[in-house]
Amino acid sequence: MTIRKVGVVGCGLMGAGIAQTCAQSGYEVIVREVNQQLLDKGVARIQSAWDMMASKGKLTQGQVDENRSRLHGTLSLEDFADCDLVIEAVIENMEEKVRLFPTLDRILKPDVFILSNTSSLNVTQMGAITKRPDKVCGLHFFNPAPVMKLVEVVRTISTSEETIETVKQFAISLGKTPVLAKDTAGFIVNFLLIPYLLAAIRMLENGMATRDDIDTAMKLGCGYPMGPFTLLDYVGLDTTLWAAEAIYEEYKEPLYAPPPLLRRMVISGMYGKKSGRGFYDYQ
Ligand code: 3HC
Repeated sequence: MTIRKVGVVGCGLMGAGIAQTCAQSGYEVIVREVNQQLLDKGVARIQSAWDMMASKGKLTQGQVDENRSRLHGTLSLEDFADCDLVIEAVIENMEEKVRLFPTLDRILKPDVFILSNTSSLNVTQMGAITKRPDKVCGLHFFNPAPVMKLVEVVRTISTSEETIETVKQFAISLGKTPVLAKDTAGFIVNFLLIPYLLAAIRMLENGMATRDDIDTAMKLGCGYPMGPFTLLDYVGLDTTLWAAEAIYEEYKEPLYAPPPLLRRMVISGMYGKKSGRGFYDYQ
């Protein structure tokens, strides 16, 4: 089927990045938030990314205006009725997804694909509560979504081959490189990345090295673009905790058990860059 209009549920850090990527790749995009304030904030984030790209000569003003005209905000999922493909990027909480998927299933045409940007929750469960489990899979973007080249296409035991092929082609049309992962907690990237980030927190807790030295070591010693604490703040400590909990829940491997400091920082609202405070201070 031809994909013309894409629905994105959620306009937070990831939802906004995904909506931006789709609109600048030529798709009509409708993005839903739960209230006007969050919607305005998300759309402003996208607009400022396009303004930044224009200021660097990566987009003309005409292209910025065209992108903007393809992007529509809404507070109502009913406005997704004419979408050809929907990407869910709401909070990483299974109860939220369990509420959302049957609602989308009711509103969307029967042949529409429903993709989840979840980083580690069970996509099979999301498909199983719809009448179209063969058309449900994961499409996991990386932060910042417009920049990072990878997407993980996550196949559940019910996803059809046709869905996987269509979603891979869709990912390529966004300028991304898709890799295929089975629906097991963490997929490929987080299965490897989360224990590394948690190990850095444990090193800090145990006083083995300072925050700055650990960050410098991994940047300069391994050529990573960011050290683990800068990356933790960038990804979000809350997101990291949810991902760690989901993988730990599935495998019960101590490697994935969230360190006490991470949990305490999240309880204290220290989510990283987005809340102004994490391992570093952004205020
Ligand atoms: N839209 C479009 N372009 C953007 C953008 C946006 N929203 N944000 C940044 N860019 C562009 C910039 O314009 C710049 O382009 P240029 O090189 O042509 O000038 C380029 O991206 C790099 O940005 P900056 O110059 O601002 O900054 P850096 O060179 O320091 O790069 C970074 C920033 C790309 C974030 C780099 O530090 C990096 O790759 N960090 C690692 C990020 C990472 O590992 N992400 C994955 C996290 S894991 C995850 O998301 C999974 C989840 O489930 C936990």
